Amino acid sequence: MEAFLDQKLITVELIFKSFYNETHFERYGTYMDETSLLLLWSCTVSMFPLGGLVGSLIVGPMVNKWGRKGTLLINNVFAITPAILMGVSKVARAFELIILSRVLVGICAGVSYSALPMYLGELAPKNLRGTLGTMTEVFVIIGVLLAQIFSLQAILGNTTGWPILLALTGVPALIQLLSLPFFPESPRYTLIEKGDEETARQVLRRLRGSNYDVEAEMEEMREEERKEQAEGRLSVLNLFTFRPLRWQLISIIVLMAGQQLSGINAINYYADVIYTSVGVDPTQSQYVTVGSGVINLVMTIVSAVVVERLGRRILLLSGYGICGLACVVLTVALLLQSTVPELSYLGIVCVFAYIVGHSIGPSPVPSVVRTEIILQSSRTAAFTVDGAVHWFTNFIVGLAFPSIQAAIGAYSFLIFAALCLLTAVYIFVIIPETKGKTFVEINCAFAKRNGVELPEEKGGATAEPHTPSLPDQQTSF
Ligand SMILES: *[C@@H]1O[C@H](CO)[C@@H](O)[C@H](O)[C@H]1NC(C)=O
Repeated sequence: MEAFLDQKLITVELIFKSFYNETHFERYGTYMDETSLLLLWSCTVSMFPLGGLVGSLIVGPMVNKWGRKGTLLINNVFAITPAILMGVSKVARAFELIILSRVLVGICAGVSYSALPMYLGELAPKNLRGTLGTMTEVFVIIGVLLAQIFSLQAILGNTTGWPILLALTGVPALIQLLSLPFFPESPRYTLIEKGDEETARQVLRRLRGSNYDVEAEMEEMREEERKEQAEGRLSVLNLFTFRPLRWQLISIIVLMAGQQLSGINAINYYADVIYTSVGVDPTQSQYVTVGSGVINLVMTIVSAVVVERLGRRILLLSGYGICGLACVVLTVALLLQSTVPELSYLGIVCVFAYIVGHSIGPSPVPSVVRTEIILQSSRTAAFTVDGAVHWFTNFIVGLAFPSIQAAIGAYSFLIFAALCLLTAVYIFVIIPETKGKTFVEINCAFAKRNGVELPEEKGGATAEPHTPSLPDQQTSF
Protein backbone atom coordinates (compact mmCIF):
# COMPACT_ATOMS: atom_id res chain seq x y z
CA MET A 1 0.00 0.00 0.00
CA GLU A 2 2.66 2.50 1.02
CA ALA A 3 4.95 1.57 -1.82
CA PHE A 4 2.08 2.03 -4.19
CA LEU A 5 1.39 5.46 -2.82
CA ASP A 6 5.01 6.47 -3.01
CA GLN A 7 5.06 5.99 -6.74
CA LYS A 8 1.98 8.06 -7.24
CA LEU A 9 1.24 11.57 -6.32
CA ILE A 10 1.66 12.19 -2.66
CA THR A 11 0.16 15.26 -1.21
CA VAL A 12 -0.19 15.65 2.50
CA GLU A 13 -3.94 15.35 2.10
CA LEU A 14 -3.67 11.97 0.39
CA ILE A 15 -1.27 10.70 3.03
CA PHE A 16 -3.72 11.56 5.79
CA LYS A 17 -6.69 10.16 3.96
CA SER A 18 -4.97 6.88 3.36
CA PHE A 19 -3.80 6.78 6.99
CA TYR A 20 -7.40 7.28 8.14
CA ASN A 21 -8.61 4.71 5.66
CA GLU A 22 -6.05 2.10 6.70
CA THR A 23 -6.54 2.68 10.40
CA HIS A 24 -10.26 2.23 9.92
CA PHE A 25 -9.64 -1.04 8.10
CA GLU A 26 -7.34 -2.33 10.85
CA ARG A 27 -9.89 -1.56 13.51
CA TYR A 28 -13.18 -2.43 11.92
CA GLY A 29 -12.26 -4.61 8.99
CA THR A 30 -13.82 -2.26 6.44
CA TYR A 31 -12.50 0.65 4.42
CA MET A 32 -14.05 4.07 4.77
CA ASP A 33 -16.38 5.31 2.09
CA GLU A 34 -15.68 8.47 0.14
CA THR A 35 -18.14 10.63 2.08
CA SER A 36 -16.99 9.70 5.59
CA LEU A 37 -13.38 10.12 4.55
CA LEU A 38 -14.10 13.57 3.16
CA LEU A 39 -15.96 14.48 6.32
CA LEU A 40 -13.13 13.27 8.53
CA TRP A 41 -10.64 15.24 6.46
CA SER A 42 -12.73 18.44 6.60
CA CYS A 43 -12.98 17.87 10.31
CA THR A 44 -9.19 17.58 10.57
CA VAL A 45 -8.74 20.76 8.59
CA SER A 46 -11.32 22.80 10.47
CA MET A 47 -10.30 21.74 13.99
CA PHE A 48 -7.40 24.17 13.72
CA PRO A 49 -9.51 27.33 13.33
CA LEU A 50 -11.98 25.95 15.88
CA GLY A 51 -9.11 25.76 18.37
CA GLY A 52 -8.16 29.26 17.23
CA LEU A 53 -11.64 30.45 18.17
CA VAL A 54 -11.24 28.94 21.64
CA GLY A 55 -7.81 30.57 21.92
CA SER A 56 -9.18 33.97 20.93
CA LEU A 57 -11.80 33.72 23.66
CA ILE A 58 -9.45 32.67 26.47
CA VAL A 59 -6.56 34.99 25.62
CA GLY A 60 -8.11 38.06 27.29
CA PRO A 61 -8.30 36.60 30.79
CA MET A 62 -4.93 34.90 30.26
CA VAL A 63 -2.97 38.07 29.46
CA ASN A 64 -4.47 39.82 32.44
CA LYS A 65 -3.83 36.99 34.88
CA TRP A 66 -0.44 35.71 33.79
CA GLY A 67 0.91 38.68 31.87
CA ARG A 68 1.85 38.85 28.20
CA LYS A 69 5.07 36.94 28.50
CA GLY A 70 3.55 34.49 30.97
CA THR A 71 0.70 33.77 28.55
CA LEU A 72 3.09 33.16 25.68
CA LEU A 73 5.16 30.80 27.84
CA ILE A 74 2.13 28.84 29.04
CA ASN A 75 0.82 28.78 25.49
CA ASN A 76 3.73 26.54 24.49
CA VAL A 77 1.92 23.68 26.22
CA PHE A 78 -0.59 23.92 23.36
CA ALA A 79 2.22 23.52 20.83
CA ILE A 80 4.46 20.91 22.45
CA THR A 81 1.72 18.51 23.57
CA PRO A 82 0.18 18.20 20.11
CA ALA A 83 3.63 17.94 18.55
CA ILE A 84 4.24 14.84 20.64
CA LEU A 85 0.73 13.47 20.03
CA MET A 86 1.00 13.96 16.28
CA GLY A 87 4.49 12.50 16.27
CA VAL A 88 3.25 9.25 17.82
CA SER A 89 -0.12 9.08 16.05
CA LYS A 90 1.22 6.88 13.29
CA VAL A 91 2.86 4.38 15.63
CA ALA A 92 -0.23 4.42 17.84
CA ARG A 93 -2.48 3.95 14.79
CA ALA A 94 -4.78 6.62 16.16
CA PHE A 95 -6.05 9.33 13.84
CA GLU A 96 -8.02 10.79 16.75
CA LEU A 97 -4.69 12.05 18.06
CA ILE A 98 -4.22 14.10 14.90
CA ILE A 99 -7.65 15.64 15.18
CA LEU A 100 -7.20 16.40 18.89
CA SER A 101 -3.78 17.88 18.16
CA ARG A 102 -5.25 20.18 15.54
CA VAL A 103 -7.55 21.65 18.20
CA LEU A 104 -4.61 22.17 20.58
CA VAL A 105 -2.38 23.73 17.93
CA GLY A 106 -5.34 25.92 17.00
CA ILE A 107 -5.65 27.14 20.58
CA CYS A 108 -1.94 27.92 20.52
CA ALA A 109 -2.38 29.92 17.31
CA GLY A 110 -5.48 31.70 18.61
CA VAL A 111 -3.71 32.78 21.78
CA SER A 112 -0.58 33.95 19.94
CA TYR A 113 -2.65 35.76 17.30
CA SER A 114 -3.68 38.25 19.99
CA ALA A 115 -1.08 37.93 22.75
CA LEU A 116 1.99 38.28 20.56
CA PRO A 117 1.13 41.63 18.92
CA MET A 118 0.10 42.87 22.35
CA TYR A 119 3.41 41.83 23.94
CA LEU A 120 5.53 43.21 21.12
CA GLY A 121 3.50 46.41 20.93
CA GLU A 122 4.00 47.02 24.62
CA LEU A 123 7.71 46.28 24.53
CA ALA A 124 8.39 48.49 21.53
CA PRO A 125 9.10 52.19 21.70
CA LYS A 126 6.29 54.19 20.08
CA ASN A 127 8.07 54.87 16.80
CA LEU A 128 8.65 51.15 16.17
CA ARG A 129 5.18 49.84 17.01
CA GLY A 130 3.87 49.87 13.46
CA THR A 131 6.99 48.25 12.05
CA LEU A 132 6.89 45.51 14.67
CA GLY A 133 3.25 44.84 13.82
CA THR A 134 4.13 44.44 10.15
CA MET A 135 7.14 42.31 10.97
CA THR A 136 4.96 39.92 12.96
CA GLU A 137 2.80 39.37 9.90
CA VAL A 138 5.82 38.93 7.66
CA PHE A 139 7.25 36.31 10.01
CA VAL A 140 3.95 34.45 10.08
CA ILE A 141 4.12 34.22 6.30
CA ILE A 142 7.76 33.12 6.46
CA GLY A 143 6.57 30.40 8.85
CA VAL A 144 3.92 29.28 6.37
CA LEU A 145 6.52 29.23 3.61
CA LEU A 146 8.89 27.12 5.73
CA ALA A 147 6.04 24.70 6.41
CA GLN A 148 5.35 24.48 2.68
CA ILE A 149 9.00 23.72 2.01
CA PHE A 150 9.20 21.05 4.73
CA SER A 151 6.01 19.50 3.32
CA LEU A 152 7.67 18.84 -0.02
CA GLN A 153 7.58 15.18 -0.86
CA ALA A 154 11.35 15.17 -1.20
CA ILE A 155 11.75 16.48 2.33
CA LEU A 156 9.12 15.30 4.83
CA GLY A 157 5.85 15.23 2.91
CA ASN A 158 5.91 11.48 2.36
CA THR A 159 4.52 8.37 4.01
CA THR A 160 7.50 7.93 6.29
CA GLY A 161 8.28 11.58 7.00
CA TRP A 162 4.90 12.94 7.99
CA PRO A 163 5.01 12.13 11.72
CA ILE A 164 8.28 14.08 11.89
CA LEU A 165 6.75 16.88 9.80
CA LEU A 166 3.90 17.21 12.27
CA ALA A 167 6.19 16.93 15.28
CA LEU A 168 8.20 19.89 13.95
CA THR A 169 5.35 22.04 15.29
CA GLY A 170 7.03 21.68 18.67
CA VAL A 171 10.42 23.02 17.57
CA PRO A 172 9.58 26.76 17.47
CA ALA A 173 7.74 26.28 20.76
CA LEU A 174 10.82 24.70 22.33
CA ILE A 175 13.00 27.53 21.06
CA GLN A 176 10.57 30.02 22.56
CA LEU A 177 10.37 28.10 25.82
CA LEU A 178 14.14 28.22 26.16
CA SER A 179 14.64 31.85 25.10
CA LEU A 180 11.57 33.82 26.21
CA PRO A 181 12.35 33.49 29.96
CA PHE A 182 15.35 35.75 29.33
CA PHE A 183 13.10 38.49 27.93
CA PRO A 184 11.34 40.93 30.25
CA GLU A 185 7.61 41.03 30.92
CA SER A 186 5.84 43.94 29.23
CA PRO A 187 6.66 47.09 31.21
CA ARG A 188 3.13 48.34 30.69
CA TYR A 189 1.65 45.21 32.20
CA THR A 190 4.13 45.34 35.09
CA LEU A 191 3.34 48.95 35.84
CA ILE A 192 -0.39 49.17 35.19
CA GLU A 193 -1.77 45.75 36.01
CA LYS A 194 0.77 44.70 38.63
CA GLY A 195 1.56 48.12 40.05
CA ASP A 196 5.23 47.17 40.29
CA GLU A 197 7.02 50.45 39.58
CA GLU A 198 10.53 49.34 40.37
CA THR A 199 10.47 46.35 38.01
CA ALA A 200 8.84 48.38 35.25
CA ARG A 201 11.57 50.99 35.60
CA GLN A 202 14.31 48.36 35.42
CA VAL A 203 12.72 46.76 32.36
CA LEU A 204 12.46 50.07 30.54
CA ARG A 205 16.05 50.93 31.38
CA ARG A 206 17.13 47.56 30.03
CA LEU A 207 15.04 47.91 26.86
CA ARG A 208 15.75 51.52 26.00
CA GLY A 209 19.32 51.97 27.17
CA SER A 210 20.81 54.11 29.91
CA ASN A 211 20.47 57.53 28.22
CA TYR A 212 16.73 57.19 27.93
CA ASP A 213 14.20 59.16 29.94
CA VAL A 214 12.50 56.23 31.62
CA GLU A 215 10.39 58.38 33.94
CA ALA A 216 8.81 60.19 30.99
CA GLU A 217 7.65 56.92 29.45
CA MET A 218 6.38 55.67 32.80
CA GLU A 219 4.39 58.87 33.18
CA GLU A 220 3.07 58.47 29.62
CA MET A 221 1.82 54.97 30.41
CA ARG A 222 0.12 56.18 33.57
CA GLU A 223 -1.42 59.07 31.66
CA GLU A 224 -2.77 56.73 28.97
CA GLU A 225 -4.20 54.50 31.67
CA ARG A 226 -5.90 57.42 33.43
CA LYS A 227 -7.48 58.50 30.16
CA GLU A 228 -8.74 55.01 29.50
CA GLN A 229 -10.17 54.80 33.00
CA ALA A 230 -11.92 58.11 32.48
CA GLU A 231 -13.39 57.06 29.16
CA GLY A 232 -14.41 53.78 30.66
CA ARG A 233 -12.97 50.62 29.24
CA LEU A 234 -15.49 48.81 27.13
CA SER A 235 -16.13 45.12 27.47
CA VAL A 236 -17.04 43.09 24.40
CA LEU A 237 -20.68 43.18 25.41
CA ASN A 238 -20.65 46.95 25.88
CA LEU A 239 -18.96 47.34 22.53
CA PHE A 240 -21.90 45.72 20.77
CA THR A 241 -24.38 48.11 22.30
CA PHE A 242 -22.26 51.23 22.17
CA ARG A 243 -23.78 53.49 19.55
CA PRO A 244 -20.81 55.79 18.76
CA LEU A 245 -18.76 52.78 17.70
CA ARG A 246 -21.47 50.82 15.94
CA TRP A 247 -20.31 51.21 12.34
CA GLN A 248 -16.68 50.91 13.32
CA LEU A 249 -17.52 47.58 14.93
CA ILE A 250 -19.55 46.40 11.95
CA SER A 251 -16.67 47.45 9.72
CA ILE A 252 -14.18 45.39 11.71
CA ILE A 253 -16.49 42.39 11.54
CA VAL A 254 -17.00 42.78 7.79
CA LEU A 255 -13.29 43.28 7.16
CA MET A 256 -12.31 40.23 9.21
CA ALA A 257 -15.12 38.05 7.88
CA GLY A 258 -14.44 39.19 4.32
CA GLN A 259 -10.77 38.35 4.72
CA GLN A 260 -11.62 34.71 5.42
CA LEU A 261 -14.85 34.29 3.45
CA SER A 262 -13.13 35.54 0.32
CA GLY A 263 -11.74 32.02 0.24
CA ILE A 264 -8.05 32.42 0.98
CA ASN A 265 -7.91 29.30 3.11
CA ALA A 266 -9.93 27.31 0.65
CA ILE A 267 -7.18 28.22 -1.79
CA ASN A 268 -4.44 27.54 0.79
CA TYR A 269 -5.74 24.30 2.26
CA TYR A 270 -6.70 22.89 -1.09
CA ALA A 271 -4.13 24.49 -3.38
CA ASP A 272 -2.58 21.15 -4.26
CA VAL A 273 -5.95 19.76 -5.24
CA ILE A 274 -6.69 22.84 -7.29
CA TYR A 275 -3.38 22.64 -9.14
CA THR A 276 -3.88 18.98 -9.85
CA SER A 277 -7.45 19.40 -11.02
CA VAL A 278 -6.29 22.32 -13.11
CA GLY A 279 -3.85 20.01 -14.84
CA VAL A 280 -0.52 20.49 -13.12
CA ASP A 281 1.48 17.31 -12.97
CA PRO A 282 0.86 15.91 -9.47
CA THR A 283 4.52 15.64 -8.54
CA GLN A 284 5.04 19.27 -9.45
CA SER A 285 2.05 20.85 -7.73
CA GLN A 286 3.91 20.99 -4.42
CA TYR A 287 6.53 23.24 -5.98
CA VAL A 288 3.79 25.47 -7.31
CA THR A 289 2.54 25.72 -3.72
CA VAL A 290 5.96 26.84 -2.52
CA GLY A 291 6.03 29.37 -5.36
CA SER A 292 2.71 30.76 -4.23
CA GLY A 293 4.13 31.08 -0.70
CA VAL A 294 7.00 33.16 -2.03
CA ILE A 295 4.58 35.42 -3.92
CA ASN A 296 2.50 35.82 -0.79
CA LEU A 297 5.56 36.92 1.16
CA VAL A 298 6.79 39.35 -1.48
CA MET A 299 3.39 40.97 -2.04
CA THR A 300 2.75 41.36 1.69
CA ILE A 301 6.02 43.26 2.01
CA VAL A 302 5.10 45.38 -1.02
CA SER A 303 1.74 46.14 0.56
CA ALA A 304 3.35 47.17 3.85
CA VAL A 305 5.63 49.54 1.95
CA VAL A 306 2.96 51.19 -0.20
CA VAL A 307 0.06 51.27 2.27
CA GLU A 308 1.13 54.67 3.61
CA ARG A 309 1.46 56.09 0.12
CA LEU A 310 -1.55 54.65 -1.68
CA GLY A 311 -3.92 54.45 1.24
CA ARG A 312 -6.02 51.65 2.66
CA ARG A 313 -9.08 51.83 0.46
CA ILE A 314 -7.33 51.41 -2.85
CA LEU A 315 -5.36 48.38 -1.62
CA LEU A 316 -8.46 46.76 -0.16
CA LEU A 317 -10.67 47.48 -3.17
CA SER A 318 -8.13 46.43 -5.78
CA GLY A 319 -7.25 43.37 -3.69
CA TYR A 320 -10.85 42.22 -3.50
CA GLY A 321 -11.34 43.10 -7.16
CA ILE A 322 -8.43 40.89 -8.19
CA CYS A 323 -9.56 38.05 -5.91
CA GLY A 324 -13.16 38.16 -7.15
CA LEU A 325 -12.14 38.29 -10.78
CA ALA A 326 -9.63 35.47 -10.26
CA CYS A 327 -12.38 33.29 -8.77
CA VAL A 328 -14.69 33.92 -11.74
CA VAL A 329 -12.00 33.17 -14.31
CA LEU A 330 -10.88 30.13 -12.31
CA THR A 331 -14.41 28.77 -12.47
CA VAL A 332 -14.53 29.23 -16.22
CA ALA A 333 -11.10 27.66 -16.63
CA LEU A 334 -12.04 24.65 -14.51
CA LEU A 335 -15.29 24.16 -16.39
CA LEU A 336 -13.80 24.40 -19.85
CA GLN A 337 -10.43 22.77 -19.40
CA SER A 338 -11.64 19.36 -20.47
CA THR A 339 -12.58 20.78 -23.86
CA VAL A 340 -9.81 23.39 -24.13
CA PRO A 341 -6.67 21.91 -22.49
CA GLU A 342 -4.74 25.19 -22.81
CA LEU A 343 -7.06 26.67 -20.22
CA SER A 344 -5.45 24.61 -17.46
CA TYR A 345 -2.60 27.11 -17.39
CA LEU A 346 -5.13 29.87 -16.98
CA GLY A 347 -6.26 28.08 -13.81
CA ILE A 348 -2.81 28.40 -12.26
CA VAL A 349 -2.60 32.04 -13.29
CA CYS A 350 -5.91 32.57 -11.48
CA VAL A 351 -4.69 30.96 -8.26
CA PHE A 352 -1.55 33.09 -8.34
CA ALA A 353 -3.50 36.23 -9.18
CA TYR A 354 -5.79 35.46 -6.28
CA ILE A 355 -2.83 35.15 -3.91
CA VAL A 356 -1.38 38.43 -5.19
CA GLY A 357 -4.74 40.15 -4.70
CA HIS A 358 -5.23 38.79 -1.23
CA SER A 359 -1.76 39.62 0.02
CA ILE A 360 -1.84 43.26 -1.10
CA GLY A 361 -5.17 44.14 0.53
CA PRO A 362 -7.63 41.79 2.21
CA SER A 363 -4.95 39.98 4.19
CA PRO A 364 -2.72 42.71 5.69
CA VAL A 365 -4.79 45.92 5.56
CA PRO A 366 -7.74 45.12 7.90
CA SER A 367 -5.51 45.08 10.97
CA VAL A 368 -4.18 48.51 9.98
CA VAL A 369 -7.70 49.89 9.60
CA ARG A 370 -8.84 48.27 12.84
CA THR A 371 -6.30 50.13 14.97
CA GLU A 372 -7.17 53.38 13.23
CA ILE A 373 -10.94 53.34 13.60
CA ILE A 374 -11.26 52.07 17.17
CA LEU A 375 -10.87 54.05 20.38
CA GLN A 376 -8.01 53.18 22.68
CA SER A 377 -10.48 52.35 25.44
CA SER A 378 -12.18 49.68 23.36
CA ARG A 379 -9.09 48.30 21.68
CA THR A 380 -8.92 45.17 23.82
CA ALA A 381 -12.59 44.40 23.23
CA ALA A 382 -12.19 45.08 19.52
CA PHE A 383 -9.21 42.73 19.49
CA THR A 384 -11.36 39.96 20.91
CA VAL A 385 -14.09 40.54 18.34
CA ASP A 386 -11.50 40.61 15.57
CA GLY A 387 -9.92 37.35 16.76
CA ALA A 388 -13.24 35.58 17.22
CA VAL A 389 -14.55 36.61 13.79
CA HIS A 390 -11.25 35.73 12.14
CA TRP A 391 -11.18 32.19 13.54
CA PHE A 392 -14.91 31.55 13.26
CA THR A 393 -15.09 32.42 9.56
CA ASN A 394 -11.87 30.52 8.94
CA PHE A 395 -13.54 27.51 10.61
CA ILE A 396 -16.67 27.84 8.48
CA VAL A 397 -14.68 27.89 5.25
CA GLY A 398 -12.57 24.88 6.27
CA LEU A 399 -15.64 22.90 7.24
CA ALA A 400 -17.91 23.81 4.37
CA PHE A 401 -15.64 24.16 1.36
CA PRO A 402 -14.75 20.47 0.79
CA SER A 403 -18.40 19.45 0.84
CA ILE A 404 -19.49 22.39 -1.30
CA GLN A 405 -16.72 21.58 -3.74
CA ALA A 406 -17.76 17.95 -3.82
CA ALA A 407 -21.34 19.02 -4.49
CA ILE A 408 -21.02 21.80 -7.05
CA GLY A 409 -17.40 21.47 -8.17
CA ALA A 410 -15.90 24.45 -9.93
CA TYR A 411 -18.93 26.61 -9.23
CA SER A 412 -17.91 26.75 -5.56
CA PHE A 413 -15.44 29.50 -6.43
CA LEU A 414 -18.31 31.68 -7.60
CA ILE A 415 -19.47 31.83 -3.97
CA PHE A 416 -16.13 33.35 -3.04
CA ALA A 417 -16.35 35.75 -5.97
CA ALA A 418 -19.74 36.94 -4.71
CA LEU A 419 -18.41 37.37 -1.17
CA CYS A 420 -15.43 39.36 -2.50
CA LEU A 421 -17.81 41.61 -4.38
CA LEU A 422 -20.04 42.14 -1.34
CA THR A 423 -17.09 42.99 0.89
CA ALA A 424 -15.72 45.39 -1.73
CA VAL A 425 -19.09 47.14 -1.99
CA TYR A 426 -19.24 47.51 1.78
CA ILE A 427 -15.74 48.97 1.86
CA PHE A 428 -16.50 51.31 -1.03
CA VAL A 429 -19.64 52.66 0.63
CA ILE A 430 -18.82 52.64 4.32
CA ILE A 431 -15.12 52.68 5.11
CA PRO A 432 -13.44 56.08 4.82
CA GLU A 433 -9.81 56.48 3.82
CA THR A 434 -7.87 56.61 7.06
CA LYS A 435 -4.42 57.30 5.67
CA GLY A 436 -2.82 60.32 7.31
CA LYS A 437 -6.00 61.26 9.16
CA THR A 438 -6.14 62.04 12.85
CA PHE A 439 -8.35 60.00 15.08
CA VAL A 440 -10.80 62.87 15.41
CA GLU A 441 -11.21 63.13 11.64
CA ILE A 442 -11.79 59.39 11.33
CA ASN A 443 -14.28 59.49 14.16
CA CYS A 444 -16.03 62.36 12.41
CA ALA A 445 -16.47 60.30 9.25
CA PHE A 446 -18.28 57.62 11.23
CA ALA A 447 -20.23 59.89 13.56
CA LYS A 448 -23.01 60.75 11.13
CA ARG A 449 -23.56 57.14 10.17
CA ASN A 450 -23.72 56.17 13.82
CA GLY A 451 -26.40 58.79 14.32
CA VAL A 452 -24.58 60.48 17.15
CA GLU A 453 -23.34 63.99 17.66
CA LEU A 454 -19.59 64.08 17.42
CA PRO A 455 -18.26 64.54 20.92
CA GLU A 456 -15.84 67.33 21.70
CA GLU A 457 -12.32 66.94 20.40
CA LYS A 458 -10.11 64.30 22.00
CA GLY A 459 -12.48 63.35 24.82
CA GLY A 460 -13.42 60.46 22.58
CA ALA A 461 -16.82 58.98 22.99
CA THR A 462 -17.59 60.08 26.51
CA ALA A 463 -20.61 61.98 25.27
CA GLU A 464 -22.59 58.79 24.97
CA PRO A 465 -23.40 56.68 28.01
CA HIS A 466 -21.90 53.21 27.86
CA THR A 467 -24.98 51.47 29.07
CA PRO A 468 -27.17 49.79 26.49
CA SER A 469 -30.30 51.82 26.03
CA LEU A 470 -31.46 51.33 22.50
CA PRO A 471 -34.02 48.71 21.58
CA ASP A 472 -32.95 48.74 17.93
CA GLN A 473 -29.39 47.72 18.68
CA GLN A 474 -29.56 44.42 16.84
CA THR A 475 -31.04 45.68 13.60
CA SER A 476 -27.72 46.30 11.96
CA PHE A 477 -26.76 42.64 11.98
C1 LIG B 1 -9.53 2.98 1.17
O1 LIG B 1 -8.50 2.09 0.83
C2 LIG B 1 -8.91 1.03 -0.04
C3 LIG B 1 -7.75 0.06 -0.20
O2 LIG B 1 -6.61 0.70 -0.66
C4 LIG B 1 -9.35 1.62 -1.37
O3 LIG B 1 -9.79 0.60 -2.24
C5 LIG B 1 -10.48 2.61 -1.11
O4 LIG B 1 -10.84 3.26 -2.32
C6 LIG B 1 -10.06 3.63 -0.09
N1 LIG B 1 -11.20 4.48 0.22
C7 LIG B 1 -11.28 5.75 -0.14
C8 LIG B 1 -12.54 6.44 0.21
O5 LIG B 1 -10.38 6.33 -0.68
